[in-house]
Amino acid sequence: MSIRIKLLLSYTGMLVLSLLMFGVTAGLFTIAATGDLHSIRDFYKVHYQLNPLTEQEESIFLELKYLAKNDPDELLNKDLLIDYDFKLRTVRAGLYVRRESNQVFESFTFHQPELEQFLPPYDLNNSQIRNTFNIGERFYAYAKFDFAYSDGAKGSVFVIRERSPFAEVTRRLLPILSFILIGVLVIANMLLYRWITKSVIKPLNLLRSSAERIQEGDLQFALDLHSKDEIGKLNEAFENMRKRLQESVQLRLQDEENRKELISNISHDLRTPITNIKGYIEGIRDGVADTPEKMDKYVQIIYSKAVDLDKLVDELFLYSKLDLKQVPFTFEPVNLASFLDDCIDELHYSLQEQGIQIAWTRRTSKPAWVLADVEKLKRTVVNIIDNAQKFMDKPQKQIDLALTLDDQWVTVEIRDNGMGIPPEAIPHLFERFYRAEQSRNSSTGGSGLGLAIAREIIEGHGGKIWVTSEQGSGTSLFFTLKRTSVHGGEHA
Ligand SMILES: Nc1ncnc2c1ncn2[C@@H]1O[C@H](COP(=O)(O)OP(=O)(O)OP(=O)(O)O)[C@@H](O)[C@H]1O
Ligand SMILES: [Mg+2]
Repeated sequence: MSIRIKLLLSYTGMLVLSLLMFGVTAGLFTIAATGDLHSIRDFYKVHYQLNPLTEQEESIFLELKYLAKNDPDELLNKDLLIDYDFKLRTVRAGLYVRRESNQVFESFTFHQPELEQFLPPYDLNNSQIRNTFNIGERFYAYAKFDFAYSDGAKGSVFVIRERSPFAEVTRRLLPILSFILIGVLVIANMLLYRWITKSVIKPLNLLRSSAERIQEGDLQFALDLHSKDEIGKLNEAFENMRKRLQESVQLRLQDEENRKELISNISHDLRTPITNIKGYIEGIRDGVADTPEKMDKYVQIIYSKAVDLDKLVDELFLYSKLDLKQVPFTFEPVNLASFLDDCIDELHYSLQEQGIQIAWTRRTSKPAWVLADVEKLKRTVVNIIDNAQKFMDKPQKQIDLALTLDDQWVTVEIRDNGMGIPPEAIPHLFERFYRAEQSRNSSTGGSGLGLAIAREIIEGHGGKIWVTSEQGSGTSLFFTLKRTSVHGGEHA
């Protein structure tokens, strides 16, 4: 059964129940107003309007009327009158008989000493047989018959019934009230039903159609998240799921794109040295290298291309292993200051040969202990310094190293006064195969793996690596490593 039908049924159920409750309440109220259960039956009969007595009272009245017409003196017979009064009392009415202005009989049910004054006068034409009157707050209905006793005296017989003043009001107002109440209930139910359908069914339908769209592979939409209720929360969860799904799809597409690019880059970078090697070998084979000097030169070129190739394959292999997190890091406590000393010692001569000055400053006297994989960290520093010397274009060549400390981190800066990097290239520097100079000319750069490897290594240490550069005046490469309190196997 759908929620819509369930809602419809429950609302209709509530409506019927409310109406039933109202019916019962109205019934009870009417009984309270009219005096007894039987009078309800006559409440809306035509004769109730013309004749304020109930049917039973009326039939007793007709008997009395018959008696008054045919045997009026019987209406002086106390026993008979008591008898009639008894019958009337069982239906909550009473008898009153008058001869001239004297009371012949009065039912004790009335307890009303002033009753006599309020009764209508004698009228032999009997033009107004049925009517009502009130004594103070009490309200009475009566049927009267005027006749003449055998001696000519005026006689009147009354069947009187006390009625609640509310009875008339109830009789008038009950239909209007019922009508209004039913109207209000029906309208309220309709509005509630509409409201619930709007706030529950519609969002659910939206959710279903969204799920169907996702099933068909369409993730390019957004769900409206207006409501804060349970349905709203469900929509929110669904929307989050859609976003995650969209992200993962995009990631997959991006991966696919990267893979294609990687293959194309690898093939390009491998092809260039291989083509060169092939060309020079062909030269040798065809006898172009006809002198020992030429032969030497050719062999030297072939050798250096083979070295390039070897380096590239090596870098590629390392990068892919780092990327797949397959290279284990062996961390040990390292004093970064002494580590940089060692690095500079190693690189000093080769840099000097190229006329590059290298200087380094410690901006703190505190020990800079970190947990690091020395070999990999060295590779990072070498890659960065390798770039600095490769992209150097000034006659005064300078590389500066600096080390700063804060509570948690050690920061290393390697600055050169080379050509700098265009700002648009900076966000991509650490991507594999990325080179600021796009032509991939082998004379002005390598394969573009150096900084990608450096990033993998630094991130593998839990640190960060970034670059700042001013085109034309130089580049600064920074990396941070987390400080440790452990050094040389002891706690500081
Ligand atoms: N110090 C620097 N000065 C100017 N440009 C730089 C510097 N460092 C990096 N770059 C730019 O960033 C690019 C990427 O550097 P990366 O080290 O990743 O690759 P590469 O040096 O070209 O090749 P590889 O390091 O694999 O031999 C370089 O091609 C260069 O354009
Ligand atoms: Mg490099």
